Amino acid sequence: MKKKENEIQVKEIDMIREAFHYQSRFAGSVMVFKIDFPLTRDPSFSYVMKDLALLVKTGFKVVIVPGAKERIDAVLRQYRIESRFALSARITTESAMPFVLMAAFDAATCFMTGLSGDQVDAVIGNFVRARGMGVIDGVDMEHTGAVDRIATESVERILRLGITPILPCIGWSAAGKPYNVQSDEIALAAAAALGASKLFILSARAGRGSSRCAVPEGGRLTPSEVERILAGNETGGRFAEELSLALRAVKAGVERAHIIDGREEGAALRELFSNLGAGIMVYADEYEAIRPLKSADIPAVLRLMEPLFQRGNLVRRNGEQIREKKDDYVVFEIDGSIHACAALHLWGAGQGEIAALATDPAYTAMGLGRRLVRYLLDRAAREELKRVFVLTTRTNDWFEFLGFTESSLESLPDAKRRQYDHRRKSKVLALTLDRACPSPTVP
Ligand SMILES: CC(C)(COP(=O)(O)OP(=O)(O)OC[C@H]1O[C@@H](n2cnc3c(N)ncnc32)[C@H](O)[C@@H]1OP(=O)(O)O)[C@@H](O)C(=O)NCCC(=O)NCCS
Repeated sequence: MKKKENEIQVKEIDMIREAFHYQSRFAGSVMVFKIDFPLTRDPSFSYVMKDLALLVKTGFKVVIVPGAKERIDAVLRQYRIESRFALSARITTESAMPFVLMAAFDAATCFMTGLSGDQVDAVIGNFVRARGMGVIDGVDMEHTGAVDRIATESVERILRLGITPILPCIGWSAAGKPYNVQSDEIALAAAAALGASKLFILSARAGRGSSRCAVPEGGRLTPSEVERILAGNETGGRFAEELSLALRAVKAGVERAHIIDGREEGAALRELFSNLGAGIMVYADEYEAIRPLKSADIPAVLRLMEPLFQRGNLVRRNGEQIREKKDDYVVFEIDGSIHACAALHLWGAGQGEIAALATDPAYTAMGLGRRLVRYLLDRAAREELKRVFVLTTRTNDWFEFLGFTESSLESLPDAKRRQYDHRRKSKVLALTLDRACPSPTVP
């Protein structure tokens, strides 16, 4: 009984550590929340607002972009104004515009109200400079506009005051004329202009379930994976639009975009404060150039390593030995050729070894080595390793800079210790992977 209680306590403490880790990592950074209108009508909405209020109160800079499509549809239907669409945007006619304005501000007010209930100051503002879409392929888009720019200085000033800006789906021209602008476009422009670290796309729909898009389990997608999914998806639909928005955001410099079912309680918090994540994440793939080793790469890898074998930096291995451990290796490819490589060997008992790390001398000091180590530490975390070590004769300073510390021969797994070459006198350096934040931040 006591043991069980202890286990629960340790789990809770781990969760607290994890939350602090992510809080310190992201606090002060801008997060843009694009939230679909139907979520405001869902019973979960009050929890979503409570979570957003909590984020603001703990130092996150939250920007809200309310989606209003369904609200505009409903208002136009109520006033018997027909909606026509072109280029996947609503053609906002002269007669529709007053109702679009009404619906847009109505949707924005839902968020104002929600935040007021949680004592968070918010302001609905004219932060979007827009221009009319004009006549495209013979279709006059009338009062439908595109984002010209976001008034970043104003938004940032408001954020510094601890006030949450709400950007309705309206933009104003330099002359003050209002345009109906798609909220996806506003969220994208705001996230990019404000240097947001995250864009959350919250809907009242289960992301994967509602689409025929093939999204792999795990829900972590690189931009090229999203491109492949979108290319193979002819059905379109809202989820494909969300994926495309996430992709564009990441390409515009946003670190991560998350597509989340807002009805899942605490989904945004889980995404922010834990390793578990929620929904589907599209992330800027700094590892895009890193990939697993293929058999055909072995000659190039040996060529890369040869001078290091000769200088004694690396223990000599042949093609057959690399092939045997092929899955442990990753390579860094630039413009179709390999310029660095490394391996993570698993030794059991929660220990892994980073080995065979080599950077092409023409490509040193460009961060390739560091990124390979970071990649392998991420892999180690996924393998739930507790400790990663490295044996080195000349790079101890470099590994220490990355957070490794000198360790003893005795700390190595038995099998590795038996293989230790006493003539080489390699130093042992190791890094402990904390349970709460398993992939340490390598500089
Ligand atoms: C160590 C090594 C992998 C670093 O690769 P890299 O791609 O140049 O690494 P990064 O670009 O991430 O880091 C470069 C920085 O580390 C420094 N650095 C490189 N080798 C170093 C060493 N042996 N000791 C201390 N610092 C070193 C560079 O001066 C540079 O510093 P700067 O950023 O201030 O300019 C590369 O030098 C190499 O291939 N060494 C020989 C093989 C080896 O010893 N492997 C480790 C055994 S497994």
